Amino acid sequence: MTSHQSSNQEQVEFWNGPTAESWVASQERMDQLLVTLSEQAIRHAAPQPGERVLDIGCGCGSTSLTMAGQGARVTGVDISEPMLANARARGAGNEMLEFILADASSYPFDTRFDLAFSRFGVMFFANPHQAFAHIRSALQDQGRLCFICWQSPKDNPWLSVPGGAAQPFLPEPEARPDPRAPGPFAFADPAYMQEILDQAGFTSIAIEPCTADMRLGSDVEEAVAFLLRNGPMSRLLAEVEEDTRDKALDAVRETLTPLATAAGIMLSGACWIVSANNS
Ligand SMILES: C[S@@+](CC[C@H](N)C(=O)[O-])C[C@H]1O[C@@H](n2cnc3c(N)ncnc32)[C@H](O)[C@@H]1O
Repeated sequence: MTSHQSSNQEQVEFWNGPTAESWVASQERMDQLLVTLSEQAIRHAAPQPGERVLDIGCGCGSTSLTMAGQGARVTGVDISEPMLANARARGAGNEMLEFILADASSYPFDTRFDLAFSRFGVMFFANPHQAFAHIRSALQDQGRLCFICWQSPKDNPWLSVPGGAAQPFLPEPEARPDPRAPGPFAFADPAYMQEILDQAGFTSIAIEPCTADMRLGSDVEEAVAFLLRNGPMSRLLAEVEEDTRDKALDAVRETLTPLATAAGIMLSGACWIVSANNS
């Protein structure tokens, strides 16, 4: 991190560890998986040529690159050094882009943005109320917010179907964690988001469902390799002995095989697209 210290220390550690390396290594596959959801979110956000856009938790920079390609001046901000290094390499020479290694929930931005955008990068704040108040303060008076986040795991078969197949072979989950704790599903409950954004001072808050077919891989083996490397199941698989892991992966293969289509292994995903105005 820069001299600007983060209050989200646990997340800083998490996003600078093995998970970040997996995201960098899987960047193309991840973008393919998220392509439809990503397009829907960016269409909804509608960045205009010349607008100043803040891409919160920009990761490897894919959405920053897309919006800069549409003529916006994009500042990507992220706490992950490896992912941001990847974003910087991908955006090298593009004058519409800059990347800042910092905590978006407290960094003193020296610009007022027209649009604060995020693809799955705003669910990790230790104090979301304070974080969104800060993000609002980084917007122009007429500025707007638009982000995409996950609905609950049970509404996301691309995770729950393979996860359910592997579950009998994996360690018992610890006591049910707080569903609002920082993590990919922290904003699954729209009432919680509404309350956070209300309190942060946003107006015209809209929370709309959005679904897409997600391509886990071109075939079963590619899907299994992806799940082994990315997402919640990968962390549980890493904890078990090799023969147990093999049994879990065989169960996943058996479940995914009947789902194979000419387009690959397709399962649905469900998100919220959230938009709001500064005033
Ligand atoms: C699920 S990844 C999404 C990355 C990217 N937006 C994408 O869709 O490919 C979440 C990202 O949020 C970043 N992040 C988490 N907390 C953050 C914070 N407080 N400030 C800035 N970035 C943060 C992580 O480092 C990670 O890159």
